[in-house]
Amino acid sequence: MTAPSITVRCPAKVNLSLRVLRRRPDGYHDLDVVFQAIDLWDTLEVRPDSELRLTCSDSSLPTDESNLVIRAAALLRGRLGRGDEGARLHLDKTIPVEGGLGGGSSNAAGTLLACSRIWGLQPTDLDLQEMARELGADVPFFLTGGTAKGAERGDLITKLDDLGPVPILLGVPPFGMSTAEVFQACSARLTLPQNGVSLRLVSPHKWLTENDFGSMVNDLEGVVFDQWPTLKQFRDGLIEEGALGALLSGSGSTVYGIFRDHHTMRNADRELRARFTNWKVLPTRAVKTGTHFLVADDGRGGR
Ligand code: C5P
Repeated sequence: MTAPSITVRCPAKVNLSLRVLRRRPDGYHDLDVVFQAIDLWDTLEVRPDSELRLTCSDSSLPTDESNLVIRAAALLRGRLGRGDEGARLHLDKTIPVEGGLGGGSSNAAGTLLACSRIWGLQPTDLDLQEMARELGADVPFFLTGGTAKGAERGDLITKLDDLGPVPILLGVPPFGMSTAEVFQACSARLTLPQNGVSLRLVSPHKWLTENDFGSMVNDLEGVVFDQWPTLKQFRDGLIEEGALGALLSGSGSTVYGIFRDHHTMRNADRELRARFTNWKVLPTRAVKTGTHFLVADDGRGGR
């Protein structure tokens, strides 16, 4: 008999704000980030097995230890398991890759939750946060989801009031972006004092309560838009079509807009699809959840 499987749903995110504060000695940057989980999901199906194996609906993605899913499972096993646990993992990809939407990080968070359950491990919230931070700066957010603020490398998470199900239109160009390269280019431009904060900070609380999306900021936009002007054209197109605010998500390549209502978003969707024919234009909305269980054969759901 095949062992029962469990399924986790792994959402994508956009960054409502991303301020780069300073370079760190470890090569990363201290950030002030606001994350928002969105209604676009990968699913990860996991069952116990003799060894660790990953298959993926997208054959262009690696399934060895360079994939964060395998790294997350191996980290968990090494940290809290006996060391001989195995799992068969199948990843169904919907979230565009290298799009600044956090898909790989969300998959890693989902792996920590799913493998903990199938292996009977009981990590504390602190254990999960620590392993998530080791796996990548965006991973801890997905354990929380909804609307949240990230400090330090963007990985010290504080929950914020949920934004509500605001309509969000994503524009994904036919090319991806390397986060490391974008940060490197941004860093070369920064003239930040070693330990100081030289950029004006936008208080996320202020615009979240007033829904003042016009003040959304992403400090990585400068370098990215200079190199790929088409992304700026899409961003400007979103504003022309009535978006309350529009921004590059993370290090790109996705550009998104927030809309007052679905009707305005649908019109923008139609117009921008006609103009940017080789882009994927995806209507979605903000959601309150992070990575969570969909179905458990043993009847258990939730986190
Ligand atoms: O943590 P993650 O592997 O997702 O980060 C990818 C790259 O992005 C890092 O290697 C680093 O170059 C850059 N980065 C950074 N500062 C952060 C987050 C990411 O410089 N806070």
